[in-house]
Amino acid sequence: NTGKLWGGRFEGGPSPELDALSRSTHFDWRLALYDIAGSHAHAKALGAAGYLTPEHQAEIHRGLDVLAQRYTDGTLQPDPSDEDVHGALERLLLEEIGPDIGGRLRAGRSRNDQIATLFRAFLLDHAQTVSRQVLDLVEALATQAEAHLDVIMPGRTHLQHAQPVLLSHHLLAHAWALLRDVDRLADWRRRTAAESPYGGGALAGSSLGLDPELVASELGFLGSSPNSIDGTASRDFVAEFAYVAAQIGVDVSRIAEEVILWSTREFDFVTLHDSWSTGSSIMPQKKNPDIAELARGKAGRLIGNLSGLMATLKALPLAYNRDLQEDKEPVFDSVDTLEVLLPAFTGMIATLVYNRDRMTELAPQGFSLATDIAEWLVREGVPFRIAHEVAGACVRRCEELGIELADLTDEQFAEISPALTPSVREVLTIEGSVASRTGRGGTAPVRVREQLAELRGRLA
Ligand code: ARG
Repeated sequence: NTGKLWGGRFEGGPSPELDALSRSTHFDWRLALYDIAGSHAHAKALGAAGYLTPEHQAEIHRGLDVLAQRYTDGTLQPDPSDEDVHGALERLLLEEIGPDIGGRLRAGRSRNDQIATLFRAFLLDHAQTVSRQVLDLVEALATQAEAHLDVIMPGRTHLQHAQPVLLSHHLLAHAWALLRDVDRLADWRRRTAAESPYGGGALAGSSLGLDPELVASELGFLGSSPNSIDGTASRDFVAEFAYVAAQIGVDVSRIAEEVILWSTREFDFVTLHDSWSTGSSIMPQKKNPDIAELARGKAGRLIGNLSGLMATLKALPLAYNRDLQEDKEPVFDSVDTLEVLLPAFTGMIATLVYNRDRMTELAPQGFSLATDIAEWLVREGVPFRIAHEVAGACVRRCEELGIELADLTDEQFAEISPALTPSVREVLTIEGSVASRTGRGGTAPVRVREQLAELRGRLA
């Protein structure tokens, strides 16, 4: 006996090279407590079906509890001879309660249905952590938005000055995107928690009359897989999680890019808190946005994890194939990446100081009120096509004169078009401009306040 889970039909043990390739304990050991929970549930199913006496079953539960305690204490370790977490835990259980009783636990289950279930359970837990962390970031953005309802900044398209907007409006745009990611995780949870593959065995189900529904409910799932082949061989739940993780990375990277840009001397929109920025080993004056840069960089890594996983899954025939073992490391990495990134990122956002004066000063520049002239003309009854032309002519005149729109005199306005009466000046302030955008979702302070209340309602 090689001590493996599958020695019987082999004459000699596996080559050391195969062992080295096959071994997964260095990454799947972190699933041990989930595997132990699965074993508890499976022991109940075996007991209920009459394959374990109450005494044997109790002894198995006791042994599993000992292993769980030792794991939590940090004294339970896999051996280099163990192939994977499942094999290691069986060996350790046999050491604890002996092979006679311990050897009964494996009946009616396979590592294939075990791993498919455990990985779901693991990701369900971590999805909760990640959701909470994303919500913390949303909260930080909402708090900053609340504190800056009076600050107007240059809104941009193509990175060019476009129209003035409230800083709060801009910050909340990021918050809504992140809230959708939390929604995505909730939606993913609904599907993933619906189905426990345990009981599917290797692929075909069990002949022992075990109840997969019992195991499912023991493990906190709503039900068991309707199809044992699908249950053991599908990993779309992993890919979908990896996608949401990548999407969170992308959404965070967009905020990150702005923090990086906004903290440059040229922009000078924000100042990073000392505790949430870094220095240079050579340039004493430096204060660097490393958190934001790491966020931007890690988005690439999260996308890579998703792409790699999809490539692994593509064209895999049914049912279980060992390729599926390659689903763990990338997604473990996505989980670890987000769980270390998000708290740091939220700390940086929560402590960011916005340069109100700089934003206010730049907001009207670059003719960002040109659209306001055009829309003012439309309200005066001018067709938009003509209004657009007239406002464009104002911009051209300003460029010739080297001035901003508000600097044009009444005469100069009238020269461009008789429709441009002096009351056009109502919209030639950034305050007037933002106040006029009162449609739902617009940047008018009254709407942004409503928006903030709506977001807070969703957070509650
Ligand atoms: N460790 C494997 C995985 O992560 C499960 C083991 C299944 N092994 C096997 N030879 N069927 O997918």
